[in-house]
Amino acid sequence: MSILLVSGTDTGIGKTLVAATLAAGLTERGYRVGVAKPIETGCAGDEATDAASLRAAARSTESLSVISPYRFPDPLAPSIAAARVGATIDVDGLVADLRHRATGYDVMLVEGAGGLLVPVTTEVSFADVALALDATVLIVVGSRLGAINHALLTFEVLAARGIRTRGYVLSQLTPAGDLATDTNPALLASLTTVPCVGILPWREDATTLLAALRADDGTEARAHLATLAEEHLPALLAPA
Ligand SMILES: Nc1ncnc2c1ncn2[C@@H]1O[C@H](COP(=O)(O)OP(=O)(O)OP(=O)(O)O)[C@@H](O)[C@H]1O
Ligand SMILES: [Mg+2]
Repeated sequence: MSILLVSGTDTGIGKTLVAATLAAGLTERGYRVGVAKPIETGCAGDEATDAASLRAAARSTESLSVISPYRFPDPLAPSIAAARVGATIDVDGLVADLRHRATGYDVMLVEGAGGLLVPVTTEVSFADVALALDATVLIVVGSRLGAINHALLTFEVLAARGIRTRGYVLSQLTPAGDLATDTNPALLASLTTVPCVGILPWREDATTLLAALRADDGTEARAHLATLAEEHLPALLAPA
């Protein structure tokens, strides 16, 4: 078993897209892939959007309440989103459950919420969760102006806390032609020893693909993502 925590430089920068692409690619290669989005906030009507995308990408048969046990309506960091509905997140229970579920898979992909230092409770961040899980972390860098700073800050936290790191994936948030997006890959690579393990180009259909995964059985979208994984994330298509 191995647990890969898919974290990132920010919220809304491609964690689900990268995790779903990986899940589809690994599943297509025949690995048993577990998925989790343990805490999802901003869930309108209790809807677990990220969890549903990941579930479809991995062809998981687990229920959404297992894949995403904590869902809160306010689009806020987990600690405060939970507090606002009088809930508390049982981090020890959550970690134990993920470690137990991971034993049934070749790889367990766990998507964080926001970035690494987002508070899960007032005491615990996703960096702490990564350590408690003994997970390897993959950082999705939302590639746009400002990403270099966010990425380097994130890498410093990983190093300072001794968190095992698989590397980073750049998710290109704007079409080629944007100056920051075009220059980020080489600039970031020149500033860190953390390895770049993939670049997911800008996809006009990114939002549609994630939605299509959740619709019906999502077969076509899953096949599409598996192809993207083979093209752009081949270094990640084996368990860590
Ligand atoms: N490679 C890309 N090409 C085009 N658009 C992208 C790409 N990556 C991300 N996006 C855009 O960013 C949106 C958010 O992506 P995604 O849901 O994967 O982010 P996230 O980091 O998982 O967000 P959250 O913090 O809410 O979980 C997508 O719906 C899409 O519009
Ligand atoms: Mg997401």
